[in-house]
Amino acid sequence: MEKKKFYITTPIYYPSGKWHIGTCYTTIICDALARYHRMRGEEVFYLTGTDEHGQKIQKVAEAAGMPVKAYIDDIVGQLRKLWDLLDISFDKFIRTTDDYHERAVQKIFDRLYRQGDIYKSEYEGWYCAPCEAFWTDTQLKDGKCPDCGREVKRTKEESYFFRLSKYCDRLIDLIENHPDFLQPATRQNEMLNNFLRPGLQDLCVSRTSFDWGIRVPFDPKHVVYVWVDALTNYITALGYGSDDQSLFDKFWPADLHMIGKEIVRFHSIIWPALLMALDLPLPKQVYGHGWLLFDNDKMSKSKGNVVDPFVLCERYGVDALRYYMLREISFGQDGSYTNASFLSRINSDLANDLGNLVSRVTAMVEKYFDATIPSPATQGAPDDELIAACVSMPFEVDACMDKLLVPEAMEQIWKVVQRANKYIDETAPWALAKTEEGMARLQTVLYNLCEAIRYIAVELQPFLTKTPPQIFAKIGVTDAALQTFDSLARFGALPAGTRVDKGEALFARIDIPKELAAMDAIIEEQICQAAQKQEKEHMEHENVVSIAQIGIEEFEKVELKIGRVVACEKVAKADKLLCSRIDLGEEQPRTIVSGIAKWYTPEEMIGKQVVVVTNLKPVKLRGIESQGMVLCASDADGNLSLISPIAPMAAGSEVR
Ligand code: ME8
Repeated sequence: MEKKKFYITTPIYYPSGKWHIGTCYTTIICDALARYHRMRGEEVFYLTGTDEHGQKIQKVAEAAGMPVKAYIDDIVGQLRKLWDLLDISFDKFIRTTDDYHERAVQKIFDRLYRQGDIYKSEYEGWYCAPCEAFWTDTQLKDGKCPDCGREVKRTKEESYFFRLSKYCDRLIDLIENHPDFLQPATRQNEMLNNFLRPGLQDLCVSRTSFDWGIRVPFDPKHVVYVWVDALTNYITALGYGSDDQSLFDKFWPADLHMIGKEIVRFHSIIWPALLMALDLPLPKQVYGHGWLLFDNDKMSKSKGNVVDPFVLCERYGVDALRYYMLREISFGQDGSYTNASFLSRINSDLANDLGNLVSRVTAMVEKYFDATIPSPATQGAPDDELIAACVSMPFEVDACMDKLLVPEAMEQIWKVVQRANKYIDETAPWALAKTEEGMARLQTVLYNLCEAIRYIAVELQPFLTKTPPQIFAKIGVTDAALQTFDSLARFGALPAGTRVDKGEALFARIDIPKELAAMDAIIEEQICQAAQKQEKEHMEHENVVSIAQIGIEEFEKVELKIGRVVACEKVAKADKLLCSRIDLGEEQPRTIVSGIAKWYTPEEMIGKQVVVVTNLKPVKLRGIESQGMVLCASDADGNLSLISPIAPMAAGSEVR
């Protein structure tokens, strides 16, 4: 019989280099699904990759003084390291700069042009010359460029357009009448009410204002709009438009495009319209998951509220992070990551529930049966419940996974973990071990527990990657046939007589207050770095700092004044930061946060005269708006010293 196919994709990632645990959310979810379907015996194709074209990345690379491709190669390498670390089992990693992709996109563009779905016209919009970007009326901020705040000019540019409007009715029908296509269902109304029912306009699908993109084959001063380039990756990765379309024939249409909610519009409107124009089948489902927030705020490296997945994996292990992502966040909705909830999940679910179960059971087999799994002898009342829980678990997990209820699927596994722990309490093996009759009963009890642990480890394999092999090793399950879903058809497949090895605990218990403090220190460091970067970028942006020499008129843009510190205190949960109130001869003293707590105590600061940059844009540090910067000298060893006038000066005196 032909195997069932399962084609699952993540979005392709921008090579921003700003990876955080939110970035990992989509790939970890897809990885669990891909592994799950593979274990069900399906033929799975799991696609991920990078979205490498566009003006933004070109500018960043140019600013770094590097050829764009070389710049991106390095970042893509980091992303692939992250996926390796997280055990992401993708079958293909596509880069939109890959030759085969570029050629296929050109073919697609050419075909759509020839058949009249793409036509040439003029794009009219507000042009920001320094940003080389077009904006619509609604995108402008107070009539100015939303990126840099400068004046914009009404401009026309020759462009190619895709006849998106032509597909509007079919798209409405798709979303209204095929509810599986776009999930969760709440996203359907968003698309219908906000975009489709008001009517679609044709889409501008080429640009001439930059050249880091795929050239329009018949008009090479144009490059293809990045979203057309990016979305088609889902078919070009399978060889669509190449000489070998066998993977495409096998796997298309995709079973599932898993994406974040902010890009649902592209996937549920533009993408199906492009496929309709190409006369191709539509993906079976687009799923727009929610965001992982940090303490209820959107994660962003520039806000310094980012938790680094490399740090988390190094400190607590990959499975702790995978477990948290898959278990804690209600799928489809936004979820908030907190260090406290992460650490307490590790302790309660992984170290206590699962880890303890495995170590208690293996320890008892070692102690009472010379490390050899005994044969079951008699069955008793609590056995039936444990066995029933094990046997029904695969069905429960299956039902959840079919509905993409991933946290609920994990919950089903934990029900068995908890049932097994309860079984230990009910059967009290330490008491049984005291009599000969009890020892006979203990054989069954420990056999059942080892078998229950095998059930748990088998079911855990799609979700956690390091722990199941460790459990198998501990209970001596070396036979691959006993690690499959099929092996769960019968409780009792585990052969008696196998040797167990308790070894080290699966998860070390965490000293939560200590770890929370350590994590706070890491985040604080990030906040300082982010603030410094923000200041630097701001100064560069305003041309305050030029690479070599600057003219006096540029220096004069920086307003420096003498201030007197009138109050100062430590910033809560931030070892490096002091928050000072500084009198600058203004109506109110200003609040300024500085990373100087290692060198000055709040008491030492009070009364000091300092030099303050007073016309810096305010920045938020740890929720406090810092309205300037206190100047310090710092030497090559990183020592810091405040700068003060030699003689006392009135607050607000200018520094020139
Ligand atoms: O959007 N929580 O790429 P991207 C959950 N190149 N998911 C998050 C997240 C968070 N805090 N932050 C990011 C793009 N993501 C385009 C896609 S597809 C043809 C082109 C998710 O690098 C985000 O929702 O900005 C998206 O699904 C993925 O990371 C990649 O985002």
